[in-house]
Amino acid sequence: MSSYLDLVHGHPQVLEGNEVTGDSAAGNLALKAHWSDLQAHDARQVSRFEVDMLSIRWRTVLFAFVVTLALAPSKISTQQVESVRSQEGMVSSQQWIASQIGADILSSGGNAVDAAIATGFALAVTHPTAGNIGGGGFMVIRFPNGQSTAIDFREKAPLASDPEMWLDENGEYSSDIHHRSHKAVGVPGTVAGFDKVHRLYGAAAWADLVQPAIDLAGKGFELSESLAGSIERFASRSPYEATVSVFSKGGTPYQVGESWSQPDLARSLERIRDDRRDGFYQGETASLIAAEMRRGEGLITLEDLARYQARERATIQGTYRGYDIISMPPPSSSGVAIVTMLNILEAYDLPGMGHNSAEYIHHLAEAMRRAYRDRAQFLADADFSDVPVQRLTSKEHATWLRRNIDSERASVSHPTDVEMAPESPETTHYSVVDVNGLAVSVTYTLESGYGSGIVVPGAGFLLNNEMGDFNAGPGLTNENGLIGTAANLARPQQRMLSSMSPSIVARDGALIAVIGSPGGRTIINTTLQLILNMVEFGMSISEAVAAPRIHHQWLPDRIRIESNGISAQVQSQLEQMGHIVQVGGRQGSANSIGVDLITGERIGAPDPRSPDSGARGN
Ligand code: DON
Repeated sequence: MSSYLDLVHGHPQVLEGNEVTGDSAAGNLALKAHWSDLQAHDARQVSRFEVDMLSIRWRTVLFAFVVTLALAPSKISTQQVESVRSQEGMVSSQQWIASQIGADILSSGGNAVDAAIATGFALAVTHPTAGNIGGGGFMVIRFPNGQSTAIDFREKAPLASDPEMWLDENGEYSSDIHHRSHKAVGVPGTVAGFDKVHRLYGAAAWADLVQPAIDLAGKGFELSESLAGSIERFASRSPYEATVSVFSKGGTPYQVGESWSQPDLARSLERIRDDRRDGFYQGETASLIAAEMRRGEGLITLEDLARYQARERATIQGTYRGYDIISMPPPSSSGVAIVTMLNILEAYDLPGMGHNSAEYIHHLAEAMRRAYRDRAQFLADADFSDVPVQRLTSKEHATWLRRNIDSERASVSHPTDVEMAPESPETTHYSVVDVNGLAVSVTYTLESGYGSGIVVPGAGFLLNNEMGDFNAGPGLTNENGLIGTAANLARPQQRMLSSMSPSIVARDGALIAVIGSPGGRTIINTTLQLILNMVEFGMSISEAVAAPRIHHQWLPDRIRIESNGISAQVQSQLEQMGHIVQVGGRQGSANSIGVDLITGERIGAPDPRSPDSGARGN
């Protein structure tokens, strides 16, 4: 059966015409491919589908009556990270108060898009490491009729950007400028993304989706142990007065259980409530951002803000053993990489190998190694360079990548190709399904935990440091982990490459799961393993989320495995195959939703790795 992208673009893929060199005996992945059939425009196609407007309209009327009641501040109760079932809708996020706000919107007659917007604004208040209005992200939507679409609200490079902007006055690359300066801030996309998706597919009144976040920011909410500790550590290190003022009481830490309010943020949110995107990209908030940029020698101007537009894009679609995989296109690398890896793995008997056995982990790592090499070579903002999406996600390409996987020996990643820069692990993913089966998968971020660390004085929110996801500079690839390939260099208005993987799984027209995770480059592999855990090992959504995860990203050439993820024996078997194995830490926070195909129930599966996560049904 043709995939959606084949149908749209009508280009069945063939292997002929590819010129390939490689030393398969040595497992050499230094491959050069000449793609004669590159398709530059895959990800630029805008798709827009009819939703069930009748059903939405009667629900909107009901919404108007009950909204005031439902938006009363949520009660703080003892939080336990556990799965939740509902016959109607479900929200699963990294912060349970935000999930409750989304569920309240569903109870009031809002649809899943409305709930995703309200949850996103609430996370900007309750989950400040990654929830944001000063950052950006992606949303993948599957409609009850099986059609899908994606909203790209990734940050953009300011107009004054330049591929060499990370060099200091001596012409040397500076990691500080790249990741920790005002120049590291990309033009934020979140508010434009929420505004756009609401105009396209929302049903509830916009103001009702922002108001709960305003209430949380203005009236405050009780600090959990995890959040109190996190903001104390953050504020104690911050050089910025406005940041210290938001995240502490004039330098004194907030205590666990204390109420934390953010009045400047509440006022910024009020402007968004009243003027939608113009309340952020124009007027007072825009002026405050531009003033802070001038003060800190950042690049974002009023013009950059006014010009920012979110984009609707065609989703990446693949198939795996009869399941439909729907994920994010460029500028995220996720959809392409996940589909590539699944296509490679489809040829193997994974259940026969056993979950997290040495043989299984070896084959996963080999698939990951190859997909991440492709990612480094080909993936970037498709509005600026030709990304061969159809080619990379074809079954033929996977056959070709699979040909030199040795079932008993690790391949070798060659740093002479391209190296990858280090990346921070702070982002957040949440999932929403409503009573009609409308499904929304959202991952958004400030990039590092708390982003740039810069709170806009007077506006009360953190700015991202997403420009760090651009490559270091032309030709700056070196063995210390810099990457200097052309496609993902900072250029005016370009979006930086991402790994964020909001995804949806369906089968035979039925919704199966809404998934994704934070975790920098590990995100793609976390999402892959959620799919494999369900499809290959028959795990429930909660089991799939809880199971230990592994990560390989081509370079550095090693397998990372979560603490307690494997036995000493499996580790030793992998090492005998030639793998370097590193065990420790945790990977991701995959706040997901599954659907029980027998009862139709939505199962909210918050990730037990994050203590404040929570799912709430309506
Ligand atoms: O877009 C990206 O891929 C990264 N900026 C995401 C950063 C991230 O996931 C940090 N997460 N926990």
